[in-house]
Amino acid sequence: MLAKALTLCCLMALALPTLAEEGWWRSAQFYQIYPRSFKDSDGNGVGDLQGITQQLAYLKEIGITATWLSPIFTSPMADFGYDVANFYEIDPVFGTMSDFEALVQKANQMNIKIILDFVPNHSSDECDWFIRSAAGEEEYKDFYVWHTGKVVNGIRQPPNNWISVFRGSQWTWHEGRQAYYLHQFHAKQPDLNYRNPKVVEAMKDVLRFWLRKGVYGFRIDAVPHVFEVEADVNGNWPDEPRNQYVSDPEDYAYLDHIYTTNQPETIELVYDFRQVLEEIDQELGGDDRILLTEAYAPLDVLMQYYGNDTRKGSQIPFNFELLANVHYDSNAFDYAQLIHNWLDNMPAGQVANWVLGNHDQSRIGSRLGADRIDAANMLLLMLPGISVTYQGEELGMLDVFISWEDTVDPQACQSNEQEFERLTRDPVRTPFQWSDEANAGFTSGPTTWLPISKDYKLVNVKRERGIALSHLNVYKQLRALRDEPTMKDGDVTVKPIGPTVLAFKRSLPGHKSYIVVWNLNDDVETVILDSVFIDLTSELRYVVVTNKSIRRKNDLTYANSVLLMPKEVIVLSTV
Ligand code: NOJ
Repeated sequence: MLAKALTLCCLMALALPTLAEEGWWRSAQFYQIYPRSFKDSDGNGVGDLQGITQQLAYLKEIGITATWLSPIFTSPMADFGYDVANFYEIDPVFGTMSDFEALVQKANQMNIKIILDFVPNHSSDECDWFIRSAAGEEEYKDFYVWHTGKVVNGIRQPPNNWISVFRGSQWTWHEGRQAYYLHQFHAKQPDLNYRNPKVVEAMKDVLRFWLRKGVYGFRIDAVPHVFEVEADVNGNWPDEPRNQYVSDPEDYAYLDHIYTTNQPETIELVYDFRQVLEEIDQELGGDDRILLTEAYAPLDVLMQYYGNDTRKGSQIPFNFELLANVHYDSNAFDYAQLIHNWLDNMPAGQVANWVLGNHDQSRIGSRLGADRIDAANMLLLMLPGISVTYQGEELGMLDVFISWEDTVDPQACQSNEQEFERLTRDPVRTPFQWSDEANAGFTSGPTTWLPISKDYKLVNVKRERGIALSHLNVYKQLRALRDEPTMKDGDVTVKPIGPTVLAFKRSLPGHKSYIVVWNLNDDVETVILDSVFIDLTSELRYVVVTNKSIRRKNDLTYANSVLLMPKEVIVLSTV
């Protein structure tokens, strides 16, 4: 009898995929930490690794599976860490290598995976590789992209018209090397030359090093920029064409970046990086290592990042459809269309991911309205697949105004007093709000590197824990719902109900269905849900409500008459 039961158990175990086979990341909740602003452990006003380690329990509390950290490597901080001087070292402002090892160890014990930011496109100009390249050392001379420029009317000029993301020419003259070097971003971020196989190998070694230290993968920075078009036989590159609607010749959008972004070689490089992860999976065993790729690119290009029949790619090409395209006045048709864009174009067998915020974009509540914060988190957590939350969005943190004089973001500092507000990313990078104590409990020191939001006494973890329908507690309820089989494995049907109500249904045969309904605007609405979705029970149960709701959790409503208060968003289930 016992033997029979054991055999049956074994057979069942064989039939079901293990977590490793299934991929731990397929239904994971990711959380982006911007280390400078998460938690300061030593009172100098800048967040650090020990601070993160101290707060891992918070990540557990909100149900995070894995956290990706913006860069923590040695850096002169011209772009706050996205200018890496040594890809193998921790910057002292964040701590030491042993702090990093302690973080990984504790995170592993708590079953939280650490993902690092990998910045392949460029290094800092203070990186040893660049210094040697500029000096013309044989091994490094082609590590970066150099050109002697052209002479027009006796005046030396950059080789072509390419414009940097941070304004102005992509080329800066280097006195030592007597040549221009290419930088798609800041002049202190020279582009590595990916047409040199030694660079590719050097960067693969960087991946191997951190994987062997126990990280579970990388968020890859600025992927579309990695390759430029191949130079012609004379070593020259063509000018990029104009974008007619932009008149400022220093503005990145002045040109159409057909030669400096989304070159086909980039996709292959992502596959090569994935291959390194597979090698390390073989070497070290355990759970899958993963890639998350940051690319603002056309959908058909993004879908190629996933891989194809012969090569594996990024498991998580960030889905910026909503982040980049919805705004305050977007209606339910717009949202539905953008959600469909990803779901309908994704290759078979892949998983969707949903991203609504990061350290480069205005806060969700500032972009879409503070009364739509719960709705945004509901989209993120209730749509099928992977959720990616930027620190503070679970609390409803908002952009903080920072004057031109106090602005530190290079993207804004390279502009001027009239333009900087459109460009600055400082407002979304202010310190995390832990409590109503001095400096929001972020630091014990007297100052912080960016100002603390004035709303910190109302918007903070400590206070929101104690308020039943705070953004934080709504977030936690949504997170908990993700453990339901329907949420993990169910289908989705997305329906705009006119321009003002967006609804989607998650369903799985044999399980309850869940219906998210969101009234985007300020009129009271009544929707006939059973004319929108099939297979609903005549009564539906409120599973998650927000502070806009007049109904309570577990209340029942008729499917043919669901009343929605202004801006209300709810999760209902079949009964
Ligand atoms: C994208 C990063 O998210 C951004 O913060 C950075 O400035 C650029 N890449 C350059 O690395």
